[in-house]
Amino acid sequence: MKILFYDTKKYDKKSFNNELKEFQEIEIEYLKTDLTPRTAQLAEGFDAVCGFVNSEIGKDTLEILHQKGVRLLLLRCAGFNNVDLETACKLNIRVMRVPGYSPEAVAEHAMALALACNRRLHKAYNKVRENDFSLGGLMGYNFYGKTAGIVGTGKIGAAMCRICYGFGMKVIAYDIYQNEDLKGFVEYVSLDELLSRSDLISLHCPLMDNTYHMINLETIKKMKDNVILINTSRGALVKTKDLIKGIRLHKFSGVGLDVYEEESENVFEDRSDEILEHSVTARLLSFPNVVITSHQGFFTKEALAAIAQTTLENAMSFVHGEKSVNDVNA
Ligand code: NAI
Repeated sequence: MKILFYDTKKYDKKSFNNELKEFQEIEIEYLKTDLTPRTAQLAEGFDAVCGFVNSEIGKDTLEILHQKGVRLLLLRCAGFNNVDLETACKLNIRVMRVPGYSPEAVAEHAMALALACNRRLHKAYNKVRENDFSLGGLMGYNFYGKTAGIVGTGKIGAAMCRICYGFGMKVIAYDIYQNEDLKGFVEYVSLDELLSRSDLISLHCPLMDNTYHMINLETIKKMKDNVILINTSRGALVKTKDLIKGIRLHKFSGVGLDVYEEESENVFEDRSDEILEHSVTARLLSFPNVVITSHQGFFTKEALAAIAQTTLENAMSFVHGEKSVNDVNA
């Protein structure tokens, strides 16, 4: 089985090559470029392609992959909002993902962002490096005794609930399904109630049509003043222009984002003045109470090893014609 691997980073190659020792039947060719309609042309002669969160896997890409003989799309991530599933089904391209490689990796990063925002670690770090040991602008508040509102209580949201509970917070949650494992320490409420009661709001639901821009001016206005908002899920859950309005209205004590709307547009790779001038992400970065990281929630040793192992197991279940819980469109 031959896999063409797109958007390869050094750490991907290392973790996949490490796991490959256990999978003799699989060969991987690594490409630096990401999967787009143009680069899909390179998949001639491969059984499968492997893509990531910002790969462009719409109708055009899938049709080209299909023409080239590809029958399996391996996503080495949990989210699949970038895939046109209807077209994949029509073309009989099987789509598989890695749903729960290390929920704690992402949840711990969400808490790291929340703590950094709350205790102004980003500011403190810079101040001390400038030999300024004063405490001006660094006041936070205790998380202990406050209310954490978790939107989406799947694997990552549940891990975040456990972390917040461990901090002594009251944990409330909103999801379309209730997670039985959280019974006894998490109270499920409506989204409106969550917005109005939470001191810390953390988003952990997938990006879909009905969650697109779920955080907008209307929902922001329902939040408590001085709330902390964390998004480690997908950028487009938040309408960035409205978030900026909310920040200007002094609604937020802090905002921590690991994901942002312009991620796939490579705004910061280009860095031209003209692009940065119109970039909402660059505007967000100008606010002192905003901390942004570059989609690194998944980036731990344990998570990378688990991603490689599950992706290769997914490839083998395709080879053996077996169904899998990791099928997105079976
Ligand atoms: P999951 O599938 O285990 O959980 C998602 C939860 O969201 C489910 O309980 C589901 O019922 C709920 N949900 C669905 N629609 C909803 C709605 N309209 N309102 C409220 N809840 C809704 O997924 P998991 O593994 O917990 O991942 C969550 C998201 O985290 C992924 O979709 C992905 O976008 C993001 N992610 C981010 C990473 C990063 O590095 N920052 C890494 C991995 C995932």
